[in-house]
Amino acid sequence: MNYPIDLKRRKLLTYAGASLASAAAFPHLSFAKNIKVKRTASADFHADIEIELKQQVTHVQILKGKKTRVWKVFGKVLKGPNESVVNMTDTYLAPTIHLHKEQKVRIYLRNNLPATSILHWHGLHVPADMDGNPMYAINSGETFVYEFEILNRAGTYWYHSHAHGVTAKQVYSGLAGFFIVSDKEEQALKLPDGKYDIPLVIQDRSFDHDNQLHYSNHMMQRMQGFLGNHIMVNGQPDSVLPVETRAYRLRLLNGSNSRIYKLAWDNGMPMTVIGTDGGLLEQPEQLPYIMLGPAERREIWVDFSRQGLGTNLSLRSTTFNVSTHGMMGRGMMGGGGGMMGRGMMGGRRRGMMSGNSIPLGGDYPVLKVKVNKKSSVRHKLPNRLTTIKPLLIKNADNPAKPRNIELSMRHMSALLNGRSYKMNDVREDEIIPVNSLQLMAFDNGYSRRHGMMSMPHPMHLHGEQFQIVKREISSSHSDYETVSSGFVDQGWHDTTLVMPGEKVTFLKPFNDFKGMFMYHCHNLEHEDMGMMRDFLIK
Ligand code: C2O
Ligand code: CU
Repeated sequence: MNYPIDLKRRKLLTYAGASLASAAAFPHLSFAKNIKVKRTASADFHADIEIELKQQVTHVQILKGKKTRVWKVFGKVLKGPNESVVNMTDTYLAPTIHLHKEQKVRIYLRNNLPATSILHWHGLHVPADMDGNPMYAINSGETFVYEFEILNRAGTYWYHSHAHGVTAKQVYSGLAGFFIVSDKEEQALKLPDGKYDIPLVIQDRSFDHDNQLHYSNHMMQRMQGFLGNHIMVNGQPDSVLPVETRAYRLRLLNGSNSRIYKLAWDNGMPMTVIGTDGGLLEQPEQLPYIMLGPAERREIWVDFSRQGLGTNLSLRSTTFNVSTHGMMGRGMMGGGGGMMGRGMMGGRRRGMMSGNSIPLGGDYPVLKVKVNKKSSVRHKLPNRLTTIKPLLIKNADNPAKPRNIELSMRHMSALLNGRSYKMNDVREDEIIPVNSLQLMAFDNGYSRRHGMMSMPHPMHLHGEQFQIVKREISSSHSDYETVSSGFVDQGWHDTTLVMPGEKVTFLKPFNDFKGMFMYHCHNLEHEDMGMMRDFLIK
């Protein structure tokens, strides 16, 4: 299928718009001229693995009865081991990709959707033009050829649509999947593997009476983010995981548009975290519960050997409070329709309501676990998993002057340093020298200081993983105490939850690749509303 007219027009718009915008913002930069959508394989890139990912509209059996129309990615290995791509049946979920560090991969993305789209490799350190920046989106009928080497250490990464202004809707429709990287160091640890190493993506969706995915786009939803009425695990509602009496490695990904989870075992077992966004921790860490914002990953170790055969337990999301100030209250929606839920008006609420969605901060099951098979395999959790070299403030370019990124919501928009997303609109403070280490901070205190609505924002940066230096909360608030024991700040991260009134300082390396790398809120409704910017690395 080809849409020649549309294609020409869009390209014209992209190129013209791009150079105009950048000329205005930054007359000396000419990067916009280099935007070239890559359509063919390079002769000098010798791929170990070649994968085809085809995006198309299809119907899948998710609920009983009528099938659900979804946007689905179908994967196929063209060269290399077949196990590198695992397709998922009866769900909208994109295939899981398994690759090894140092492998060179070529991925043909074929877009057969009735929309412009592009895929981004979340958490991977790849060249700017391979990163799925929205400026590289391809039209229906087009192919994008990705070529890169896996430079990341072993870890649970993922990929998803990053199309301009419609990321939320496209991810919601199905364009997201796991991207799991292994390496020698990890393999030497002999953690539970094969069917005892389970990636679990948690998402929420709303279905209408016809079993179709429902996504509404009213202002209220865009401000707070989408909240669905079903919790899905690996694209299935009411998930039950059958397990044996032995140890498991569970890789949890929050693939929801906006929902934040506070995950805990309902039988009182602590959560034993062994990994974060960027792979294993130095040592396992035990917490009563873990906070998991959109796009974040936590790997947990769980040993069911002490559970008797027939035991049922579940992973639940338990109650927490988020606070709002001003803004969403009176006035905004003119007296407040039912959809705002009562709590909103008071400026503080347990559970944000939207229609019949499951409230944010409510108490509900996420995954049921059934111990249904005996196993005599005993695994001991190593007390040392890896060595992580700490990044040091004194090695940063700016040890005394962190680059502050102020998060705010005002005038019906979500902003970073007061700015909204615009393609190719790099400002002076968004230019970063390549091969440098930067001290940076996400500051979510602004709105609260100015009496405006304040929300948690799961903040993400493209490119290399960062290390968290500290979390500071402006004035201690009882709401904060309902989440504060659930942060895992050691290890490597590409996304971090920044609560209302909170400031998170981190060290981020920008090595190897020049070009545009995004930073944005991973509440996808906020992202599409403009809570996103580019850094230019040069
Ligand atoms: Cu997971 Cu810019 O995104
Ligand atoms: Cu946000």
